[in-house]
Amino acid sequence: MAVIAWVVLLPPSGPPRSVRAAYSESLLPWPVYRIGMPLLEFADRFAREMTPPEMRVPMLAGVWMESVIVYAVAKLSICDVMWSMRQPSSVDEVAQGLVDRGVVTSIQTGHLQRLMDAAIEVGLFAKQGDKYVLTPSGEMLRADHPRSSRATVLFLAGPDGMAPWHAVVNSVQTGNSGWMEVYGKEKFQHMLEEPAQWHTFDRAQAAMSKLLQHSLLAEYAFTGRINRTGSDADFVFCDIGGGEGVIMAEVLSHYPNARGLLLDQSAPVVAANNRFAAKSLADRAMAIEGSFFDPLPQEFQACDYFHLRWILHDWSDHDSHRILSRVAEAAERGAAVLLSEAVLGTQPHIFERHKRLMDLTMMAWHQPGAKERTLSEFDSLLSSLGYKRAAYVESQGPMAVMEYRRPHTHGRPEHHGAS
Ligand SMILES: C[S@@+](CC[C@H](N)C(=O)[O-])C[C@H]1O[C@@H](n2cnc3c(N)ncnc32)[C@H](O)[C@@H]1O
Repeated sequence: MAVIAWVVLLPPSGPPRSVRAAYSESLLPWPVYRIGMPLLEFADRFAREMTPPEMRVPMLAGVWMESVIVYAVAKLSICDVMWSMRQPSSVDEVAQGLVDRGVVTSIQTGHLQRLMDAAIEVGLFAKQGDKYVLTPSGEMLRADHPRSSRATVLFLAGPDGMAPWHAVVNSVQTGNSGWMEVYGKEKFQHMLEEPAQWHTFDRAQAAMSKLLQHSLLAEYAFTGRINRTGSDADFVFCDIGGGEGVIMAEVLSHYPNARGLLLDQSAPVVAANNRFAAKSLADRAMAIEGSFFDPLPQEFQACDYFHLRWILHDWSDHDSHRILSRVAEAAERGAAVLLSEAVLGTQPHIFERHKRLMDLTMMAWHQPGAKERTLSEFDSLLSSLGYKRAAYVESQGPMAVMEYRRPHTHGRPEHHGAS
């Protein structure tokens, strides 16, 4: 009975239908998801158990080769060229397309063919006769695809993102971040001095925001748009460390009377304000330069929701507490703190494995103490500032949304949603 209830249960505090509909392409109906995940999990475990360990370990050691194939295909813009030629394309046509578009000045067609044949094996292309076509995964490497992963691949599998990972052996001995081991500075400080690297990271971040924002928008309901005063007037959404404003723009476009404020460092703030202007949101959204370690600008006292996505996992408990203290100082009593993070130990193994890799990425990229956390670790960070969890909303991915409020706020229910 409990299983049936779990399978058919929709996330209890669902958002307006129109919001969910906007993300329907990347979301499964919840019952399908609930049944499909254990099946996927079973198939994954079965494949693992059936592979002899003496084969499995060398295969694990070679996983980076697949990463390099994806990177090379993305970096050479092969998928964009194929798409512009309306495919199917022969290897000669792709080679010519790469030269004509100025992606490369010379090309070895034989080598290109070997790369493309290997990319078939990892599922980026398929063959039709002697010509190549993009699979749905290959399409994600087009720069102009609305859900493109190209920028993410260029950072994650490229030299900037990979080098700190290679320093893990040193990190384990020194306790430094991989970034510090390789570049001699912590990531955000180093990137501010390296605009090209910052740009690659920011593009990747923006692309991942697009990909994962449905966890916030499609599953979280903004509590019936109740604002901090307890009335149902439209709300002020504030994104702390909100990057280039991808999420903010998305929230405001679904809630046409909401307003937004974003806090971040100089480069993303410029990009965010440009984005707001381009999307005709400049009258409702503003990005402000500042540090979340300093008192927040006065404008932030108007916030109904303080949203922090992928912020706390970049920092130690001590620094996370400092950031949240700044939020709590600015927040009026009725305002909610929304954390969008991966939460350890809450999902099937397929996602938990991904979160463990993210945890190691935090060790490689960020200062000592940066890590993924469990739900009780998030709860205790917030409870030390007087906040209680009011909602936990899972998504069909590794991210969850946690809503925290200070108890005894007037005019609103203390609890809603799944917890
Ligand atoms: C991992 S990114 C997350 C960006 C965005 N929230 C998202 O989910 O796409 C971390 C963000 O924190 C910002 N950041 C780092 N240090 C900061 C500081 N001291 N004050 C404000 N923002 C900061 C970075 O510029 C970056 O945009």
